Amino acid sequence: MKTVIIGTGSFAPPRIVTNDDLAEVMDTSDEWIRTRTGIEQRHISDGPGTTWMAAEAAKLALKDAGVEPEDIDIIIAATTTADNCFPSAACEVQGILGAGNAVGYDVSAACSGFIFALHTMDGLMKTGAYETGLVIGVDNLSKVVDWSDRSTCVLFGDGAGAAVVRACKDGDRGLLWGRIGSDGRKASVLTCQARTMGNLLTGTKPEPGYIAMEGQEVFKFAVKKVPECVESLLKDAGTDMGDVKYLVLHQANYRICESIAKRLKISMDKIPMNIDRYGNTSGATIPILLDELNRQGKLHKGDRVVLAGFGAGLTWGALLIEW
Ligand code: COA
Repeated sequence: MKTVIIGTGSFAPPRIVTNDDLAEVMDTSDEWIRTRTGIEQRHISDGPGTTWMAAEAAKLALKDAGVEPEDIDIIIAATTTADNCFPSAACEVQGILGAGNAVGYDVSAACSGFIFALHTMDGLMKTGAYETGLVIGVDNLSKVVDWSDRSTCVLFGDGAGAAVVRACKDGDRGLLWGRIGSDGRKASVLTCQARTMGNLLTGTKPEPGYIAMEGQEVFKFAVKKVPECVESLLKDAGTDMGDVKYLVLHQANYRICESIAKRLKISMDKIPMNIDRYGNTSGATIPILLDELNRQGKLHKGDRVVLAGFGAGLTWGALLIEW
């Protein structure tokens, strides 16, 4: 049995904020952001958040797959910025879609979230309990960045991507191999503390939590761990980068992608990029990029693609797919 992606969709809020827009309200410049990261603009939600973006991406993915909401058996949403502590983003999307026959829940693995969710979905599909699934990567990071911290706030944007998957008993296509990892010992280099809740007994007042990051530590972790993970994935799968058409990498920084390409000894032509237009949308970067490739007709039956992500946790992971 293989888990096959049969449709994709993506969505970002219409409001675009350029680097020059940011330079008007903080001490930064288009030149600094572009040369350090490759980012030129990002989409920022000025109202509705995670559930809205996730549902819009999901509707497009269902349309692409030709699947009706009532045919979905399971929805897994990868997010660290759900609109509520509960209900989950997945349950909210289920409600909007009217996917009455599905079970829905969220997974939390930050920027590696979509990889973790798709890997989890694959494991569940292999049990035979589900036939059609919806995997969503979505984040509304603009609501948790500290807009007074120029070293982090310029990096992130809002967005969602989704994939409809089906359990296929025959054929060689689908998810071939997966590998995920985490190292909580290094958790402190990239954090977003939960909102402090008010406490009746101590009189503590509620306070918001923001993203805090040691940028260079995250950079070093990503350029070491991702190539290691991709290489061991391909070795386990009995193949190599020569057989892979695209390495769809988490879009955190153009220079991180370049360093990964160098370590894997591959050309940047194999690494599609859209960070210039979206910034880092966390759990959404990989499914948005996958959807763009799909819609541009760049993925053909039999193409081998590796999806690879990294992020807070620290977490990382890679999946080998035959399209
Ligand atoms: N605009 C202008 N200057 C800025 C700035 C901004 N937005 N942010 C930081 N600076 C300044 C710093 O204050 C510092 O100034 P100083 O030399 O006078 O002290 C200078 O730029 C260099 O800062 P530094 O943090 O050393 O820059 P860097 O080369 O490490 O680049 C990142 C910073 C964040 C772009 C880089 O570390 C990075 O991309 N790391 C990975 C982060 C990431 O991808 N996180 C998400 C992972 S899922």
